[in-house]
Amino acid sequence: MNTTAAAASSTAPSLTLPKLLVGQKALVTGANSGIGRAVALALGEAGADVAVNYVQGDEAANDVVAAIRAHGVDAIACKADVSDEDQVANMFGEMIERFGTLDILVANAGLQRDAPFHAMTLAQWHTVLSVNLTGQFLCAREAVREFVRRGVVSQISCAAGKIICMSSVHQEIPWAGHANYATSKGGIKLLMESLAQELAPQRIRVNAIAPGAIRTPINTTAWNTPEAYKSLMTLVPYGRIGEPEDIARAAVWLASDLSDYVVGTTLFVDGGMTLYPGFATGG
Ligand code: BGC
Repeated sequence: MNTTAAAASSTAPSLTLPKLLVGQKALVTGANSGIGRAVALALGEAGADVAVNYVQGDEAANDVVAAIRAHGVDAIACKADVSDEDQVANMFGEMIERFGTLDILVANAGLQRDAPFHAMTLAQWHTVLSVNLTGQFLCAREAVREFVRRGVVSQISCAAGKIICMSSVHQEIPWAGHANYATSKGGIKLLMESLAQELAPQRIRVNAIAPGAIRTPINTTAWNTPEAYKSLMTLVPYGRIGEPEDIARAAVWLASDLSDYVVGTTLFVDGGMTLYPGFATGG
């Protein structure tokens, strides 16, 4: 590739977000770093009040809260482990007490505990399934209870509520050495689709975003050296790593009435990673 073109396309474009979410109340889990942080900031920029969930790292969460408030909206930090039923219930109680209600849940909290399958411990399996999948169940259930209680408020949104499940390209792409993680994301796909089917009659929209390789702390070793980056690019037809903002913009759209007829969809934001790039020249 021509180097100027490569340099020009190496980062996400810098854009100002339209105020699509004014008056809406959002909760983003795992929002003190990576994709969750960018999503929380973007929802705030788009006009929503935002609860920033995190499980550790008070300072980082407080920084996200301050940056969101700089957009002229309200924000709070909510410490809770999404895999703990009581902590999740308390977090939603606290958030709703402060903001009055909830319109948008971005169930984003997730982690990896990688191991070759023969060496994977039960603890590694449970940790990943508990946070990535059970955490989405627990948070979605609390959100749905509030959406059903309140119903549609047409001045705020056409929908009674929106849930965005953070999935991964690995809901489709098998991933050796990451069986627990891929299983959790495959589970999110059918959790999301089943919820979408069940809740659409109540005007609750449930969708997922499936990020590809995004520049975050979860996958640092995949991009932080020139060799690793070059190898990663063999999997990304678009020729650049994703930035957290690429995912955040998709989340703003899915949370807004611009996507009102989008129900039960997984939006892949992956630079073409799911297009079988190995077949571009082979097969
Ligand atoms: C994983 C990353 C990985 C990406 C693409 C994500 O879901 O968390 O570690 O780089 O998928 O493989």
